[in-house]
Amino acid sequence: MEIENYDTPLENENNEPYSDPSKVVRPKSLEELIQELHKIFAHEKVNVDYVQRLMTLYISNKREWKKYAKSDPHRYTRNLVDEGNGKFNLMLLCWGEAHGSSIHSHANSHCFLKVLDGKVREELYDWPSESSTTEMKPRAINEYETPCCTYINDNLGLHRIENPSHSDPAVTLHLYSPPFSECDSFDQRTGHKQKCKVTFWSKFGQRTPFGKRGTCQEAQQYAENN
Ligand SMILES: [Fe+2]
Repeated sequence: MEIENYDTPLENENNEPYSDPSKVVRPKSLEELIQELHKIFAHEKVNVDYVQRLMTLYISNKREWKKYAKSDPHRYTRNLVDEGNGKFNLMLLCWGEAHGSSIHSHANSHCFLKVLDGKVREELYDWPSESSTTEMKPRAINEYETPCCTYINDNLGLHRIENPSHSDPAVTLHLYSPPFSECDSFDQRTGHKQKCKVTFWSKFGQRTPFGKRGTCQEAQQYAENN
């Protein structure tokens, strides 16, 4: 499968389906959104703008996604919604008040982030040099709220996501293609990176058994979300 570069959307000369973002039809429900995503990612080429438009058009309905929205008071959670036939992972992230991620990369995958509830703040960073020992400073800061869907990949840089609110939670819907289980996490003070495993707090609405989330304290400590 090939995903078209964000900057060079696929031309629609051959009338290929799912290639013209202006022809996206609003999905009527989360279920319909997932069905459409399955159809899109079954194709050899996937147009980033098309997927972003489709996810933007979905009108967030808490009744449809609340069964996946399993939160934790201490940190944000990743909750698997759909495995996309092996082509993508779709997941709900629940951000408690002031919860945030580390600065992280996306393992050469494509990352779509749609806000379902509340607001999130994104700090964008350039990749530090391998020998960096200096503090990483964001090159841009963005705030997103529903129905917005943003996109990032490793060529566009690194980012950190947080819920800036100290009174309200936030919920986001993420699509990663291809799926990945490990990414780089960066120390903001030095630019040093380390590999970190990404884990699921729940899958398909069911809390993930403890033993499957990590087998040792270290794994738990370094398990990072993205
Ligand atoms: Fe991310």
